[in-house]
Amino acid sequence: MSNKTFIPKLTDDGSYTFFSDEFEELFHSHSGAKQEAQYKFIEPCKIKEKTTIKDTIKILDICYGLGYNTAVALENVWLINPDIKIELFALENDINVSLEAINSNLLDNFSDCVIDNLNSLANHHKVENNCLKAKLLLGDARQTIKTVINQNFQADAIFLDPFSPPKCPQLWTVEFIQLVSQCLGKDGYLATYSCAASVRTALQLAGLNIGATRSVGRRSPGTIANRNGNNLPLLSQQEKEHLQTRAAIPYRDANLTDTAEKIKQRREKEQSQSDLEASSQWKKRWIIKSS
Ligand SMILES: C[S@@+](CC[C@H](N)C(=O)[O-])C[C@H]1O[C@@H](n2cnc3c(N)ncnc32)[C@H](O)[C@@H]1O
Repeated sequence: MSNKTFIPKLTDDGSYTFFSDEFEELFHSHSGAKQEAQYKFIEPCKIKEKTTIKDTIKILDICYGLGYNTAVALENVWLINPDIKIELFALENDINVSLEAINSNLLDNFSDCVIDNLNSLANHHKVENNCLKAKLLLGDARQTIKTVINQNFQADAIFLDPFSPPKCPQLWTVEFIQLVSQCLGKDGYLATYSCAASVRTALQLAGLNIGATRSVGRRSPGTIANRNGNNLPLLSQQEKEHLQTRAAIPYRDANLTDTAEKIKQRREKEQSQSDLEASSQWKKRWIIKSS
């Protein structure tokens, strides 16, 4: 956990994000923190549609960070129906991120109700009122996910939003995603901004079906997954072929305790011994095809 101060960075949609010195990455894409939450997470998970057919919406927000994904979800739901109850588990290992976001008023363009709830969650790690029952579980998500499983939580929507696979491979491994998939309800969706072939393979190995979400900001599409394969936007031929390359070899972390470096080295070794096509070859083929 850090005690550092995060410096707010303005993104192109007018919302603010932070830069992480530890992971050497922005928390969101330059094109917009709020926009990314809406288009990469809330819309693919069909949160609005669920609001019209359910009394309670269950959300698992992995890597809560500043809280944008949760904030946009709450806003979308309560704009349609303020009486809907939301049950939320949020996983995060650095409480300073959400505290600093609140204290720097970065979430001020959300409604008062959303801000009040996020404020309580950041300060008390727990909220319970008529419309929200939420817990912020602090610590390494590889461990805290077990609490969510033990509560038999079956999410309507899971937001998987760690830093990128090369920076934070521990939250993109087959073993971690298998635990995450145990928390996905039978009609639920899991969304992530990543379209990495390694991530998509890990989702498939966890028994999920995958589709592509539309490109916003971070030029490439994201990924949406569910249990039954219904209503998933199809992968393009190019994306399908990407899953046959060495890039699709997933990260592994059998005991859920390895360092990022160790997890990366293990994958690099497996890639160097693989007979699969190199992803550079795959890229070249598709450049030729599209020219
Ligand atoms: C890309 S940011 C998430 C942005 C966030 N979803 C939002 O809307 O603001 C990744 C977050 O993962 C957190 N994180 C990094 N490693 C973690 C771990 N092992 N367990 C839990 N959280 C972790 C970081 O502190 C950071 O807040």
